[in-house]
Amino acid sequence: MVSSLHSLSAPSVLRTTLSLPDRREGKVRDVYRTSDSPSAPLLIVATDRLSAFDVVMPTAIPGKGRLLTAMSLGWFGFLRTRGIIGDHVLSTDLSEVEGLGDAELRMLAGRSMLCRAARVVPIECVARGYLAGSGWSEYRQSGTVCGIPLPSGLEQCSRLPQPIFTPATKAAEGHDENVSFEQAAKQVGAGLMSRLRDLTLAIYSAAAQYALERGVILADTKFEFGFALGADGKPTDELILVDEVLTPDSSRYWPASEYAPGRDQASYDKQFVRNHLLQLVADGRWNKEPPGPPLPEEVVAATLLRYEEALAKLALPAFNAVPCGESR
Ligand SMILES: Nc1ncnc2c1ncn2[C@@H]1O[C@H](COP(=O)(O)OP(=O)(O)OP(=O)(O)O)[C@@H](O)[C@H]1O
Ligand SMILES: [Mg+2]
Repeated sequence: MVSSLHSLSAPSVLRTTLSLPDRREGKVRDVYRTSDSPSAPLLIVATDRLSAFDVVMPTAIPGKGRLLTAMSLGWFGFLRTRGIIGDHVLSTDLSEVEGLGDAELRMLAGRSMLCRAARVVPIECVARGYLAGSGWSEYRQSGTVCGIPLPSGLEQCSRLPQPIFTPATKAAEGHDENVSFEQAAKQVGAGLMSRLRDLTLAIYSAAAQYALERGVILADTKFEFGFALGADGKPTDELILVDEVLTPDSSRYWPASEYAPGRDQASYDKQFVRNHLLQLVADGRWNKEPPGPPLPEEVVAATLLRYEEALAKLALPAFNAVPCGESR
């Protein structure tokens, strides 16, 4: 079922160079404007790049971009049924984009979304239901996560008494940095931060409950929000959910059946890649700086398998491109 999403014979896509304006390259996605109009929809292409420790690896994970696009769209569809907030997805039909050839359309199919352009709020909105990653590191040192005091006696990967909102600043380069709610509020305003916190926790809770019913723990996740651009290319006051949502690139997913606090969890994300890289670091063969080392075939295959498993387990509804949400 899942293999239909990414035909094994389809070539992997490490980088795209379409003749569309304003090409931007993120770690994983290539973003274009679809015309010269300042408010033109964006074409967001999920490549098969993988980043670990914030370094983009030179080896493609063939089909990863398609799997992650399917998952993101599935979640956007799910969230639309909840009506929590409008989102940026317009369509996956690229036939309306001028200037793309047939070969490009084939390459882009399944890994692309046409989206409303937005002025992205420069805060990563993270919700955590469990104590992992940088949250666990901070808690061990200070008993807090992003300045939020937590009960004592929690273990690695413990479930938190209730989900918490832990913002991070979007660093232009390098690693994002966890900040307190107050620090983030100083940057973008307290009123906006309160809205972002409430939205982040509402979306996380709805998604975590859905996932758990399917045997998957959504331990934490990150959202980005933005103000949709008006026809003049200037941001309106319409806040929408942008970027990818609830993919293993932006979230920690754990199989519920194997969950136990007090240790690392098996996960549906880049665990194989990270473990492989940490071994290289331990052996003195890589220093966590770019360029990343080429990945062996078995690591690529194992990673892809985990992404496929997560998608299959979540069984998200097909995306229905009918816009809905609070303000549309
Ligand atoms: N609707 C939107 N309007 C404008 N920008 C968007 C929109 N949706 C997503 N983006 C931006 O597109 C980029 C997607 O690329 P990718 O996720 O690969 O970047 P990244 O390496 O995570 O970088 P960043 O730290 O900037 O998010 C991100 O910078 C994201 O903020
Ligand atoms: Mg990103």
